[in-house]
Amino acid sequence: MELWKLNIVSLAWSYFREIKLFDLTRHVNTHRRMRLEAYRCASEGLSGANLDMAAWTSVIVDSLSEVMSLQGVSPGDFDFIDIGCGKGKVLLVWRECLASMGLAHALTGIELNPDLLDICRDNLRNVGGGDDVKLICADVSSFDFGAFSNSLLLYLYNPFDGRIMDAFLRRLLGRRVYVIYNNPVHISVLMDHGFRVVSERKGKYPV
Ligand SMILES: C[S@@+](CC[C@H](N)C(=O)[O-])C[C@H]1O[C@@H](n2cnc3c(N)ncnc32)[C@H](O)[C@@H]1O
Repeated sequence: MELWKLNIVSLAWSYFREIKLFDLTRHVNTHRRMRLEAYRCASEGLSGANLDMAAWTSVIVDSLSEVMSLQGVSPGDFDFIDIGCGKGKVLLVWRECLASMGLAHALTGIELNPDLLDICRDNLRNVGGGDDVKLICADVSSFDFGAFSNSLLLYLYNPFDGRIMDAFLRRLLGRRVYVIYNNPVHISVLMDHGFRVVSERKGKYPV
């Protein structure tokens, strides 16, 4: 088979395994994308938002093991927040992984779009969860993180543009923050805010 055909078959198989199979085996809906034009909310953040799409399962699992392997970092010491949680794929996987290790700690998802949060809530219920995950409908570029601990572990799957990233990072000043940045398009904004890279993985696709 020609190389380009092989690449398409390989991508299609990866997409099925990483996105669709997760939903099929758990009776959840994280994979159907919602276009920004379908968003029923108005906030400054929407102007710089990227559309909802679910992160790949293995990328989320690998992120957790990467965090666990960092010296002096234990996920339990941090408040974990998925910034732009969409339909909750990251929360579902994170929760499942922690449970398999006999660990449990506070998980939060913050999402701009209330319709996506409703689906996220249903998804969590479908896997027997719900009460253990806090869901907040808000634009993180103007959100007050005061109610959270000073140590934050944040997951970002390329949720917004550089301008919103800058406004968001200003809300976190003075805290101990680790960021898992999946598809780090605006990494330079984090660097401008004094972050440094402690671990990096490159994949075949920008996911
Ligand atoms: C690429 S999706 C990621 C979904 C989920 N975290 C995952 O990895 O499966 C990015 C999400 O960020 C949300 N988002 C974008 N800008 C936001 C903002 N300013 N505040 C809160 N959520 C935002 C979008 O609505 C979208 O659901």
